[in-house]
Amino acid sequence: MPNLSPYHFITEKQSGREHLAADIAAFIDGFVKGRIPDYQMTAWMMAVYFKGMTSSETLALTEAMLRSGETVTHDSLLNPIVDKHSTGGVGDKITLILAPMLAALGLAVPTITGRGLAFTGGTTDKFNSIPGFRSEMNLDDFKHQVADIGLAFVSQSSSLAPADGRMYALRDVTGTVQSLPLIISSILCKKIAEGIQGIVFDVKCGSGAFMDRVPYARQLAEGLVHVGTSYGLDSVAVITRMDTPLGLAVGNWLEVIESVRYLRAETTPPDLHELTLSLGSALMQQVGAVKHANEARAKLEQVRDSGHAWERFQSAVERQGGDLRTLDTLEHPLKPQCKSGLEAPKDGIIHAMDAREIGFAAVDLHAGRRRVDDEIDPTAGIVLHRKTGDRVTKGDLILEVQAADQELCDQALQRARSAITIKEHQPTADPLIVEVVTPEGTMPAAQYFSA
Ligand code: URA
Repeated sequence: MPNLSPYHFITEKQSGREHLAADIAAFIDGFVKGRIPDYQMTAWMMAVYFKGMTSSETLALTEAMLRSGETVTHDSLLNPIVDKHSTGGVGDKITLILAPMLAALGLAVPTITGRGLAFTGGTTDKFNSIPGFRSEMNLDDFKHQVADIGLAFVSQSSSLAPADGRMYALRDVTGTVQSLPLIISSILCKKIAEGIQGIVFDVKCGSGAFMDRVPYARQLAEGLVHVGTSYGLDSVAVITRMDTPLGLAVGNWLEVIESVRYLRAETTPPDLHELTLSLGSALMQQVGAVKHANEARAKLEQVRDSGHAWERFQSAVERQGGDLRTLDTLEHPLKPQCKSGLEAPKDGIIHAMDAREIGFAAVDLHAGRRRVDDEIDPTAGIVLHRKTGDRVTKGDLILEVQAADQELCDQALQRARSAITIKEHQPTADPLIVEVVTPEGTMPAAQYFSA
């Protein structure tokens, strides 16, 4: 039977009917090969946004997007091949930290990294802030680097899941990012293409996440674990709060500095540490590298404190052309021309520091993009001196912004000011790690990690 015409395919979804897998495959193939124009793809994605997809349609879409490019195989590797994926947050530099820790423990971590989206930062942009770093490489070099040092960070290219790159660019400008089946297929097609065996998803929820409430985050987590498992990946998702930025730095080079200082055990921001250990231990347990999460936590801490993870990070950066002297001194050759501080307007306790607004303030500074082709300023960003729950006295420095000129700093400060609420009492402390989703079911984080 011939496939539906693009027009009928779009109207089929518009009226809420279920697609055949063959029609999904033909539509994606037609788009990648240029037979289906952007406007028809956009119309279809808008129909999906409103009408959703069944889980078999989501699987078929993931498969079609995966087939749009190549799949890496790591034939010579005996170690578990794993990755971690965050659905996007503010100040989220966990990939920079956890990937070398896992590699130093003998796991192989071939990571496809993404650019920042809207108010959320992207791992590709963070690595690209290291002078000389090349995040683009061909698949052979990618495989060799993973075989040699167990760790590589490659940005998405025309060879790996190209359908996603083009669909994502359209979603970003047409209000169709926040669709569960489109997010699930977009993430999984790239992860499966990496040739991994196990994955942990950090599904963010809160003001600084695409899913603002736990039930949505849970649906996303369950969908990711379901599709991952259907592809034979050992999959686990951890739902984590993203109401306030993670760690103390927001902005690409600033986040590299914070990651390096963490890997050198010079600093241990509690939220960063807790999340790194929780994600790492959930992953190691899921792939069978340890029996209990506690065993993994101890190993992860040990590999950081011994400096082995830091060594692994440097090896990956050096292999990808990054300047190790800059990493060593943490002195970037480019300097922000302007720095301004935000002081507490009154005594009290920081009740909220809205992650989304802080993320947008970083975009104001040019640490992120407003338009797809905007240039990033690598050293622009925000350093937090206080966080939610901290007591402040009038005049205390809460945060500092840095950028290329005063106007940008002023604009970002104004936004950051509106992100911060000071009250006389402590906010209710939501746990950072909310729930864990495995193929067997969903459970509160405390229960999962104590089992
Ligand atoms: N990250 C992705 O890779 N894709 C999405 O759709 C959302 C977050």
